[in-house]
Amino acid sequence: MSSHRQDVVRRLAAPDIAARKGGEPIVCLTAYTAPIAEILDEHCDLLLVGDSVGMVVHGLPNTVGVTMEMMILHGQAVMRGARKAMVVIDMPFGSYEGSAETAYENAARIMKETGAQAVKVESGPTVPDTIHYMVQRGIPVMGHVGLRPQAVLVDGGFKAKGRDIGSHNQILAEAAATTEAGAFAVVVEGVAEGLARDITAAITAPTIGIGASAGCDGQILVTDDMLGLFDWTPKFVRRFAHLRGDIAEAGAKYAAEVRARTFPGDAETYFAKKGSS
Ligand code: KIV
Repeated sequence: MSSHRQDVVRRLAAPDIAARKGGEPIVCLTAYTAPIAEILDEHCDLLLVGDSVGMVVHGLPNTVGVTMEMMILHGQAVMRGARKAMVVIDMPFGSYEGSAETAYENAARIMKETGAQAVKVESGPTVPDTIHYMVQRGIPVMGHVGLRPQAVLVDGGFKAKGRDIGSHNQILAEAAATTEAGAFAVVVEGVAEGLARDITAAITAPTIGIGASAGCDGQILVTDDMLGLFDWTPKFVRRFAHLRGDIAEAGAKYAAEVRARTFPGDAETYFAKKGSS
């Protein structure tokens, strides 16, 4: 084997993640850029190019305005940064709900133009048939049940789900239908602990929780939330760093040094070569 071949790292794929059901917890985070993907790659099994990019990076009020072009651009960036982790790309609002055929065409475009291993869809009551159609035609699909951010305008806000028996049973049924349709994993967002545990026990695909207790097969957070870039985060976020304060402090130091003319100094300045005019 040449030294070049030894550098090749096998990227995790849908069957690797599916096989982790009930085993070692599956570690997932969101990523939207090449450098963040490169940094997180060695620590994560799966990087999600979430449509949360619309709110986190582009300042949109919700994910409804996210486009195919945004997902493809950020997907390409993440694929350049990640080597080992599986990369999954969210299908944006309006790109998969209309018909299974349109969903397949948009998913195929995302996969061809980014090289990512799978797409994710928010699996409301009508979506399992579409998941089945896509999986049968070679597209690995991850589902997403519970709090579905793309349904924010119908729901009237981002609210925890499954806290009464009716919604508990409905979300449990949606998770089961998503898995039966062929999803290799299912994100479970913003649900009561009992429901997360019931879904995890009931379905054969691994559950990836966000605001869904420790009772899931893996966990995911929005990276910018867990890095502490925002003043406000939902109850389920733990800040593992406090970058908002660090960035503000760095910005203040830079501004002070520019104003005092102590930046740039000699160390940051090019000088003519010795002997030149
Ligand atoms: O868009 C996103 O980041 C997501 C995660 C919150 C799971 O869907």
